[in-house]
Amino acid sequence: MSQFWKPGTERAEGRVVDDEEGGVLFLCGSRYGHASIEKQRQRLPVFKYRTAILYLVETHATTVIVGETGSGKTTQIPQYLNEAGWAAGGRLIACTQPRRLAVQAVASRVAQEMGVQLGEQVGYTIRFEDVTNPDVTVLKFLTDGVLLREMMDDPLLTKYSVIMVDEAHERSISTDILLGLLKKIQRRRPELRLIISSATIEAKSMSNFFCMRKKRQEPENKEHGLQVEPAILSVEGRGFNVQINYAEEPVQDYVQAAVSTVLLIHEREPAGDILVFLTGQDDIDAAVQLLNDEIQNTGKHSSGLIVLPLYSGLPRAEQELVFSPAPRGKRKVVISTNIAETSLTLEGIVYVVDSGFSKQRFYNPISDIENLVVSPISKASARQRAGRAGRVRPGKCYRLYTEEYFLNHMSNEGIPEIQRSNMVSCVIQLKALGIDNILGFDWPASPSAEAMIRALEVLYSLGVLDDDARLTSPTGFQVAEIPLDPMVSKMIIASSQLGCSEEIITIAAVLSVQSIWISGRGIQKESDEAKLRFAAAEGDHITFLNVYKGFHQSGKSSQWCHKNYVNYHAMRKVVEVREQLKRIAKRIGLVLKSGENDMQVVRIAVTAGFFANACHLEAYSHNGMYKTLRGSQEVYIHPSSVLFRVNPKWVIYNSLVSTDRQYIRNVITIDPSWLLEAAPHFYQLQQSNHLLR
Ligand code: CDP
Ligand code: MG
Repeated sequence: MSQFWKPGTERAEGRVVDDEEGGVLFLCGSRYGHASIEKQRQRLPVFKYRTAILYLVETHATTVIVGETGSGKTTQIPQYLNEAGWAAGGRLIACTQPRRLAVQAVASRVAQEMGVQLGEQVGYTIRFEDVTNPDVTVLKFLTDGVLLREMMDDPLLTKYSVIMVDEAHERSISTDILLGLLKKIQRRRPELRLIISSATIEAKSMSNFFCMRKKRQEPENKEHGLQVEPAILSVEGRGFNVQINYAEEPVQDYVQAAVSTVLLIHEREPAGDILVFLTGQDDIDAAVQLLNDEIQNTGKHSSGLIVLPLYSGLPRAEQELVFSPAPRGKRKVVISTNIAETSLTLEGIVYVVDSGFSKQRFYNPISDIENLVVSPISKASARQRAGRAGRVRPGKCYRLYTEEYFLNHMSNEGIPEIQRSNMVSCVIQLKALGIDNILGFDWPASPSAEAMIRALEVLYSLGVLDDDARLTSPTGFQVAEIPLDPMVSKMIIASSQLGCSEEIITIAAVLSVQSIWISGRGIQKESDEAKLRFAAAEGDHITFLNVYKGFHQSGKSSQWCHKNYVNYHAMRKVVEVREQLKRIAKRIGLVLKSGENDMQVVRIAVTAGFFANACHLEAYSHNGMYKTLRGSQEVYIHPSSVLFRVNPKWVIYNSLVSTDRQYIRNVITIDPSWLLEAAPHFYQLQQSNHLLR
């Protein structure tokens, strides 16, 4: 490997700990019975701190716990709290995670450790999926977004005795909003205990955030016998040394480079699993395919490799594979998004390949465009990624970037998501919780004023906020009740008035899953042809309705999906989400009705929600260039759209992706006059002249 790789000068990314036995035991963990699960639990680094943690939680309103990934924070602390009686008397212990997949995986692990059925004593809730039993659940894992939603019915979260906000270092937008609100709740419910836990947080700043309140509230807290200052506890880790190697030259294609590196490791390095960090489903699927092709073509070199993808939205059965140990003599290669950076611990990893990138949300308040961009990670992330190689024994990390780049160009920390997101959903949630002065809200990190103003503008034009920036009734309250992007929610509400809610709810359900198509290298032609069978001239949304209809008529058959290059798991999810959305729609008083075959009314309903995403084809453009109506950004229809190369004059899109260009995805044709009807104040006079030209 020497011609390509250069060992880093900054060697130590972990510590050498002489606890070999622990590592070996963990490797074969899942083969042990219940009794040895108990032993495994006791070997985790947090176990030594069990008494201290329970004491701190007892005596402090807020406890900040920092500990390396894999030290047992997420799986153990909620169990300790339960064992100590924090769930007595019908109360609940909550543990939040930013990612859904982590919620499911961790809940399932804890249920297994406690020897109970998942969904009974230990349950989880993610959007559109509630696996809890209100009568018996005591430990509840949930996304921070779901906990925020629960506040709409129970603003003080009275059913919880302890709330553990986990993975706080990720600074997801929902985590930040949640922290701000929990601080408010504690003022009203001083007996509520908070645990803020994370892998690398600057514990002091988190503790300061929760501290100010306590000074004001001192008398009340004294009454409850609680300490004024938040407690900080640091759990000592057990990482082994990880040797860092850097690319000698900058890498052109990180997917290809990752694949070659995996093959080199497999050829030259002793046994041990490999974890590769790429950015998302598309590049992960591509890498899996390249590796599998390699295994088929060259046989002997790469036999013994088991290649597994890991990203959110992966079916449960495939998730399980990622966690199970590789069969004897085989080497597991897990190709993951940054979900494996700190949220999930995979046992047996000895080699890490780090692309240096992750997909991050970026929002530009000037153009009002938010998209997921493949962006460089921070040094903090790079260190976390490397650390994953040192769990069972000394490991190696291969960074697909140069040391010079790491040292001189990578930022130290990432930017909190709240400072790079569109604030629309956030504003509406706070408004629904009765927080009127959003600019004055006590944020752990303040969002930009421009983003906030943009959000208020959009919500105003959606008819969600009135002139005094209060939620309108009923539209504003209804939009807030639907757990989707406010634009999608508004589309659903409009469809109820327009008499096509059955169709629009199907569309909303399809938009909530990643993709209903099966794609991949080598089957592009077939899948494109299959797509044509459903393609509607009006665009993708109507195409989705055709696919849904076909799926329904086939009796929800997996063979039908297979034949038509439709993703069966995604369609099952669509059916589930659709049912839930119908339930919510009924609850908030919407009319469920089909528009039968009137597709124009469906497009008008889409426009009512997504008018802000209107684009028109540039008159003299021969290459399909569109401009967004607001902001005049150059965009192109994504090749996955049925309107790709069709290039109708006026379209509305659902989302943007940037690669070499800005692509619009899920696109539908419209009549520009609908825009003026849907949002007269949004498209002001001068634009309306343009619209009518
Ligand atoms: O939260 P933290 O990173 O500190 O650790 P954890 O997630 O509680 O993991 C503690 C142990 O449980 C590790 O050894 C994990 O490998 C194991 N675990 C597992 O085997 N399966 C899961 N789904 C989750 C955790
Ligand atoms: Mg954890």
